Amino acid sequence: MITTKLKNHNCGELNLNNLNEEVTLSGWAATIRDLGGILFVELRDRTGFFQLVANPQINPEVHKVFEKLRSEYVICVKGKVTRRPEETYNEKYATGQVEMYPESVEILSEAKTLPFVLDDENVSEDVRLKYRYLDIRRESMLHNLTLRHKICQAARSYLNGQDFLEVETPILIKTTPEGARDYLVPSRVQEGKFYALPQSPQIFKQLLMVGGIERYYQIAKCFRDEDLRADRQPEFTQIDLEMSFVEQQDVIKCVEGLIVETFKAAGVEVKPPFIQMPWQEAMDRYGSDKPDTRFGLELFDIGDIILKSEFHIVRNTLENGGIVRGIRIPGGASFSRKDIDDITKLAVSFGAKALANIIYLEDGTAKSPVMKFVTEEQAKQIQERAGAVAGDIIFFVADKPKLVYDIMGRLRLYFGKRLNLIDESKHNLLWVVDFPMFEWSDEEGRFMAMHHPFTSPCLADLDKLDSGDLGNVKSIAYDIVYNGTELGGGSVRIHSSEVQKKIFKALGLTEEEAVEKFGFMVNALQYGTPPHAGLAIGLDRLVALLCRTESIRDVIAFPKNSGAKDLMSDAPGEASLQQLRELHLKSTAHK
Ligand code: AMO
Ligand code: AMP
Repeated sequence: MITTKLKNHNCGELNLNNLNEEVTLSGWAATIRDLGGILFVELRDRTGFFQLVANPQINPEVHKVFEKLRSEYVICVKGKVTRRPEETYNEKYATGQVEMYPESVEILSEAKTLPFVLDDENVSEDVRLKYRYLDIRRESMLHNLTLRHKICQAARSYLNGQDFLEVETPILIKTTPEGARDYLVPSRVQEGKFYALPQSPQIFKQLLMVGGIERYYQIAKCFRDEDLRADRQPEFTQIDLEMSFVEQQDVIKCVEGLIVETFKAAGVEVKPPFIQMPWQEAMDRYGSDKPDTRFGLELFDIGDIILKSEFHIVRNTLENGGIVRGIRIPGGASFSRKDIDDITKLAVSFGAKALANIIYLEDGTAKSPVMKFVTEEQAKQIQERAGAVAGDIIFFVADKPKLVYDIMGRLRLYFGKRLNLIDESKHNLLWVVDFPMFEWSDEEGRFMAMHHPFTSPCLADLDKLDSGDLGNVKSIAYDIVYNGTELGGGSVRIHSSEVQKKIFKALGLTEEEAVEKFGFMVNALQYGTPPHAGLAIGLDRLVALLCRTESIRDVIAFPKNSGAKDLMSDAPGEASLQQLRELHLKSTAHK
């Protein structure tokens, strides 16, 4: 360690090897106990705890100062490391066999009573976020931030070894194409103009490729004004990379190495190559583009059987571009009436209009509200397709594909948890590949880019771009998925300005709009652009998963709450009239 006048050893690192050493320690008085007039202080620093003792007979001066100590005072002590009486060895701490009767003590800083007890697990997150600087003193926060540091170092070290250059990209920019809402920063010097904060370094990393950097990485801050969830923050961090003269499989291989090294930093061993699953297969089997493959309950298709039945309402859906997918729940025949009602309500809350079920009874018959529409024979066929046995229940939904996948994918996760099917010791990594290039948006009434508009379409699908068959254009994009969470995503990029223009057109941007928004990018592509591809991993998600915590807030030193508020500093705050005037803004708050 780096020694200073106030500290030449770490609390948590002292043991019997240091016996009789004169040491100077600094830290926080975590607990102070008075046992029959002798004062015991647990001194805490980043490395752990060390016991200090003050006895009026042995070190009376220090005892006098210790009497003034309150919890969380910051102190510096000097003295000799001594062995504890054997019967008082404390197995809980690495330093549990040693202690110190300080020869001197200095109070470096006093502390008010803390608003919460540090190791109380029941303190609300709001309180912890309000006093985040105290919350960070907790062991679990320290552990999470330490692991985050190690993962960053592992990423840097791996990428440095693969000839990447770490380059910073700007924070005040024009706009990014990731498709979330931008955070805007008003310009003071140019009235009515705004910078956007980057949703990712996407454009700049591509321009670095045009600039000949060949291999770029950055641990980059990204900003997206979107609805927040446990795995989303308005500002978050990516391990962002881009490579020239590569194809999809080169990026995949490089990122697999990165995953191995970052997981290793967390003590987890994973072995590439990871499965590469086409997007369509992921949707059909798991109802999700980030399938959790730690358990089965795979979906099945009974469209062909229904089409031959008298189940007109569902047939109608199928004949109008809909699909039907089912899920088999082993042993589910024992679900009560109320249970099934509740499951149906759940499906409705996911957007289903109805959830059909068939129960396969022990006597070999099928019981279901839909038996009036399907024959015994068809019920048998469905049973076979589902792989159902007596005692099982199956559920199915028919609707537009996107909705069916979403509902069934969520139901599958629900049953996975409910039936305790998820093996938490697994580390399932897989690639989802062959994404569609476009996704229809009912809201916008147009096709949107599924990744971003710089993603290369599959070259074999270029003619579909021309003929307007956008729904069937695939892209060269790939996501890395870990235990059902999207860790990262990337793509091969367009390196021809002609193709880029076609994509903008397909996305409904007029030539003027495309030039206005991304003109510099299209321009750049005309000056000798290497084929390039890249990917970004969500660092917060990666660390949270490796820390085995549900919320990425637990791995961010100063996160925002679900209302995008920093409870500690109270940001966002109001601006003064003067500031607003300088920025040429008016606020309704000042009316
Ligand atoms: P994408 O938008 O898929 O790709 O983002 C990459 C990864 O970033 C993480 N992530 C988030 N983490 C926390 N909070 C958020 N609000 C949030 N949004 C995204 C996810 C996601 O997988 N420029 C492209 C990458 C590329 O094409 O190279 C991009 O940003 O883990
Ligand atoms: P009924 O309303 O009694 O005529 O029966 C309709 C049956 O079809 C119910 O069991 C519904 O759950 C089922 N059903 C109707 N629409 C759908 C749908 N889109 N997907 C799945 N099942 C459906």
